[in-house]
Amino acid sequence: MKKQLAAFLIALMPTLSMAAGGANVHLDSMEPDLYNYESLQKGARLFVNYCMGCHTAEHQRFARTAEDLGIPQDVIEENLILSPQLAYNDLMINGMTAEDGESWFGTAPPDLSLMARLRSPEYIYTFLRSFYLDDAKAWGVNNTVFADVGMPHVLSDLQGEYELVCDPNHLEVRVEDPLRGKVTNPRDCFRQVETGSLSPAEYDQAIYDLTNFMVYVAEPSKYQSNSLAPKVLLFIFVFFIFAYLLKKEYWRDVKH
Ligand code: HEC
Repeated sequence: MKKQLAAFLIALMPTLSMAAGGANVHLDSMEPDLYNYESLQKGARLFVNYCMGCHTAEHQRFARTAEDLGIPQDVIEENLILSPQLAYNDLMINGMTAEDGESWFGTAPPDLSLMARLRSPEYIYTFLRSFYLDDAKAWGVNNTVFADVGMPHVLSDLQGEYELVCDPNHLEVRVEDPLRGKVTNPRDCFRQVETGSLSPAEYDQAIYDLTNFMVYVAEPSKYQSNSLAPKVLLFIFVFFIFAYLLKKEYWRDVKH
């Protein structure tokens, strides 16, 4: 038993160390808001349009997304289910096999169902805003949060393209930027060289929505329990009043 546990922990180590890996990487803060339906709906749309070609959310059904986020079934069917092989009650999967993924990208695109918990909302939010041009890479891009990432910058038509004016390994270090003097905030290390269809602020908002959706997908039951909590409390409160009145009623005729 002990041996099995040890083997399990050892098998887990690369994941754990990878997760801890970015310890010195600056992550921008992001506060998920699972009550913001509009944000979650926009995030869901971005997710199916830009991510599901390669990634899956294999623990989640389209129908569940629809019900939780208040999206009508026909809207889901027309806009969010892009593959003719998939239907409303299906899991959010795609047709790419792990072997295909590996041969195309070097690493198979991981399932994203639990990614927001495996990493963190801040990680995803920063990762998707940290691609920069790098000719040495197969896809022409690299990422300051995930060095040598095998994923192309699939959102470049929205964000545009950025180059890095700092040393990617020392973003936190002050460097001289010929144009703007000293740089201290890692975000200042990115310089836009091509605009996208969204402004930088709009892009940040889009990534916020997308990350928000991924936080929801990672724990849909938390979402439900959140929305249940006030109702449960109300129930307990009302129940307490009745229980109290009932107690009084029972004890009224008992002489002390
Ligand atoms: C063209 C295929 C492709 C598309 C489209 C794509 N990805 Fe990826 N993604 C990959 C690959 C390949 C990896 C694995 C990279 C690696 O391990 O080097 C990956 C990895 C990731 C990771 C894991 C990073 C980590 O630290 O392990 C996240 C998060 C991610 N993608 C999010 C997204 C999101 C969100 C979208 C949609 C906006 C998206 N991806 C679209 C191919 C893709």
